Amino acid sequence: MNNKQLVSLMDQMTLDEKIGQLMQLATPFYKGSANQGQITGPMVGMGINDDVVRNSGSVLGASGANEVISIQQAHISENRLGIPLLVMSDIVHGYKTIFPVPLAIGCSWDLELAEKSAEIAAKEAAVSGVHVTFAPMVDLVRDPRWGRVMESTGEDSYLNSQFAKAQVRGFQGSDLTNDYDRVASCVKHFAAYGAPEGGRDYNTVNMSERELRDSYLPAYKAALDAGSEMVMTAFNTVDGIPATGNKQLMRDLLRDEWNFDGVIISDWGAVKELIPHGVAENEKEAALKALTAGVDIEMMTACYVKNLKELVDNGDIEEELLNESVLRILQLKQKLGLFDNPYRGANEQLEKDIVMSEAHRQVSRELASKSAVLLKNDDVLPLQKEQKVALIGPFADNNDILGPWSWLGSKDEAITMNEGLKMKVNASNFTVSKGCDIETSDDRQLTEALQVAKDADVVVLALGEDSEMSGEAGSLTDIRLPQVQLDLIRKVKELDKPMVSVLFNGRPLDLHGVMEHSNAVLEAWYPGTEGGAAIADLIFGDANPSGKLTMSFPYSVGQVPVYYNNFNTGRPKGAPDAQERYVSQYLDSPNEPLFPFGYGLSYTTFTYNNARLSAAEMTADRPITMKVSVKNTGNTAGEETVQLYIRDLVGEVVRPLKELKGFVKIHLQPEEEKEVTFTISEEELRYHHANLEFSSDPGKFIAYIGSNSRDVQAIPFELLK
Ligand code: BGC
Repeated sequence: MNNKQLVSLMDQMTLDEKIGQLMQLATPFYKGSANQGQITGPMVGMGINDDVVRNSGSVLGASGANEVISIQQAHISENRLGIPLLVMSDIVHGYKTIFPVPLAIGCSWDLELAEKSAEIAAKEAAVSGVHVTFAPMVDLVRDPRWGRVMESTGEDSYLNSQFAKAQVRGFQGSDLTNDYDRVASCVKHFAAYGAPEGGRDYNTVNMSERELRDSYLPAYKAALDAGSEMVMTAFNTVDGIPATGNKQLMRDLLRDEWNFDGVIISDWGAVKELIPHGVAENEKEAALKALTAGVDIEMMTACYVKNLKELVDNGDIEEELLNESVLRILQLKQKLGLFDNPYRGANEQLEKDIVMSEAHRQVSRELASKSAVLLKNDDVLPLQKEQKVALIGPFADNNDILGPWSWLGSKDEAITMNEGLKMKVNASNFTVSKGCDIETSDDRQLTEALQVAKDADVVVLALGEDSEMSGEAGSLTDIRLPQVQLDLIRKVKELDKPMVSVLFNGRPLDLHGVMEHSNAVLEAWYPGTEGGAAIADLIFGDANPSGKLTMSFPYSVGQVPVYYNNFNTGRPKGAPDAQERYVSQYLDSPNEPLFPFGYGLSYTTFTYNNARLSAAEMTADRPITMKVSVKNTGNTAGEETVQLYIRDLVGEVVRPLKELKGFVKIHLQPEEEKEVTFTISEEELRYHHANLEFSSDPGKFIAYIGSNSRDVQAIPFELLK
């Protein structure tokens, strides 16, 4: 169908049918057969009848070729004009083959693998009948108390933008209309959902428009530039107005300024939440505000279907405005080929063949291995296969390692650490004991674990948070490991054995009680389906850790938010040990995080030599290059992520101490040296001025190059007019 035909299809629709296209309902609504206007099952809670279901435009959470085909078949036969449903689902870090959580994927700094993982997720989802994924989530995050930091790639807007693009490319491919094995992407949560006050989910977001534009918006924009077909609104307010009723965000910015012509969907229930937010008195006003502000599809509340007709009849909403939303939805259906084939990629046989295939699992294993971050290593890792290992802790044989937002992933298929070790070393060489549960323990567990530890050469402690402790509505004020696990570490340490802690969790933690007792610490995150295998590869040296943090690990929760690209203040603290009073500092803690952005160790060492700029001055027409030679000075092949940061020394508004402007991953054999080149152009030096103009200021800058945001070499340069 061409656009004209879509318009003529829309012209045949009644007002109710048009409004129906704007309704998204979850799968259970489609499971009953049509019963002539009755209100039954889940419809009762929402107060809608099955006419609404019959007219609805999209379904949330359907999966599996069989289920999708039967829902679609029934829908087409019951919908008067036979308009197919869009099938949307949260395929966030894998469909059934689960990849590490996005925060971990960020730590890989590996855009190619991230794209590959999104492509695999899309392929598995597409053959299972899904048309649109609610991903990528690109909210910038600086507060580890917020449980959803695990869904983001981290605290930096440049890095997040690169991952946003990679993921959209992976999900959508280059020809969504013809590639039935890809899915459309819906970037979320627009906007700034990652900055809730106090890290409490759904809480207020307050920031200047300048900060919003400088730090928070670029990743959404990057996803749209990469072609993301949809945008999901956020639950939070932005400058006092809920994002889901926010005209400035949707009509002014997304539509008018960015020219986004795809579909905007609310987050789950967010239209009706305009009432408790306190900007709408009732569902009718919520519907009026959301549609006027720009929300096309209302997810899982019924303000639109119950009120839009009256609002149009009364003249409060122009039918033309409604038509625009309907047409956008029909256009997306058209783009996905649904008018030609409403089942699109759904194919039971292919589903059996490719979902959780060995090839997909291998990519997951590789990504898990590249996502883990080695935080400390006092020469205990890698372990020797002959060493007698005690594997202790609540994650020693725990398959809760897929992480939140992996709803179709099967824990039963996940490889635990115990299973990973079994694949690698002789069973007689290691013993497993739990020691404690995630948050509770009993004496018997502890006694057994200590006995096992006593008999071993080295202890590997597998610790962490269960997956319910992060994710949506998983905010915490205390981000240390649960006390029983800290007790376990302390008790085991008393045996004076070399001790390696492996952490499975969804947020940066306060590692007091872990660092001081462990000889090595490996942050494994929630590593996904192949987690245990990947971690075994790393701890026995069959893979070399290369992950680097993309979110700072605070020294303690009291510092939060703590992130690398902060301001200097008017009273910067001098040397860390300087005895000063009236400077910007804590009396009881360092200012710096425990581990900075970009940090991560390897089993080998890299030296940075001959860092240099091609010239000390540049202009808008004459960019400069930064070069550095990086050498592997250890005995093991390894991967290093070379990072370029820039500081603008004097701006019209205060500029961050450092901003990531580029990174390159290189693989080096022992003794091998490679030269890395970055181009610094005027574009990289732009920022939003007080009047929101995006431009650069001539003047002095510093380029920093190094292996993390702290350990860098600095070279000054100047931007001339
Ligand atoms: C989450 C979204 C998700 C949606 C649909 C909401 O609760 O905030 O990220 O896409 O549910 O499952």
